[in-house]
Amino acid sequence: MIRRVGFVGWRGMVGSVLLDRMQKEGDLNYVEKLVLYSTSQAGLRGPKIANAQPHLADAMDLECLSTQDVIISCQGGDYTQKIHTPLRDMGWQGYWLDAASTLRMNENSTIVLDPLNRSIIEQSLHDGKLDFIGGNCTVSLMLMALHGLFEENLVDWITAMTYQAISGGGAQQMRELLVQMGEIHQHASPLLRLQDSSILDIENRINQQLNTNSLTISTIGYPLANNLLPWIDIDLENGTGREEWKGHAETNKILGKQSNPIPVESTCVRVGTLRCHSQAFTIALSKDIGSDELTEIIGQANQWVKVIPNNKQNTLQSLTPVAVSGSLEIAVGRIRKTSFNSKLMTVFTVGDQLLWGAAEPIRRMFGILSEHL
Ligand code: HSE
Repeated sequence: MIRRVGFVGWRGMVGSVLLDRMQKEGDLNYVEKLVLYSTSQAGLRGPKIANAQPHLADAMDLECLSTQDVIISCQGGDYTQKIHTPLRDMGWQGYWLDAASTLRMNENSTIVLDPLNRSIIEQSLHDGKLDFIGGNCTVSLMLMALHGLFEENLVDWITAMTYQAISGGGAQQMRELLVQMGEIHQHASPLLRLQDSSILDIENRINQQLNTNSLTISTIGYPLANNLLPWIDIDLENGTGREEWKGHAETNKILGKQSNPIPVESTCVRVGTLRCHSQAFTIALSKDIGSDELTEIIGQANQWVKVIPNNKQNTLQSLTPVAVSGSLEIAVGRIRKTSFNSKLMTVFTVGDQLLWGAAEPIRRMFGILSEHL
């Protein structure tokens, strides 16, 4: 049982998915009092939720925050940056659960993905650590998909080619992608309506629209509809982006392998899908094992992995963002050994960025805390 829980950022995209999951799974039954915080609407009535205080509290009020046993933050990195240190400096000893990346690599933080690192989480609780942070979405989704291979120590190195949905960029960017799609259609439709118009004329018209900045790009910064953007997060000025750096750094922190890391190289690409991240991996195996055995190892690692048989029909039906959106399933398919080296295999996976990629590891950490407190 947890006496007092504060939730900041429950109205945003990850926060609302998390709150919804917590209500559905009955997690709030283990809470005596839930306080919903707001940065802009303190004092107004909040939604009706079992055990929740009726009025919203001020998310900037450190005194009030410091009365909580657990604070869940889905408010974003800037909020964490502003609030977490002053709160700790006041001597607050509660648990901080966070979806933002700000604290992930701190020595005192544990990145949570309990199907893979429950023992590390338990050790952190035992050691009195108080900050438990959700991992980067592509990292969590990769680890869930390849859980079996990591568990059996079968991975020497990995390359991940990602196809990341726009939900990873936030709600405004999702809206903008849909606006862009509409604008393209509108621009093409006079020619599209004519049965005998040339498809190359249509394509040319759209390409001009995209190249002359006449599309709405105020939040994404570039056209994403009819395009893809092979750079995510800031430029580290060494030829990689921060999203790619996270692939190696966070994977090894989650697995407790920082002193003997598994090399992970990524190329991260934003594509015009709404909420599922897809990834293609090439994996160097430590042992030469047959495809059937590898498929079994991958498929049996956890209850969320769903192996999709490696044929055209099953793949196109079930190994897609459309098939996986809104589900906790981690679809894993295209499992095969390469023709040029039998210790190299390829895998393709699709997982929901907002569920296993963001909200679910935090919800499950909350469950672990309810058992612990
Ligand atoms: N950085 C991710 C993305 C968000 O841009 O898709 C999920 O951690």
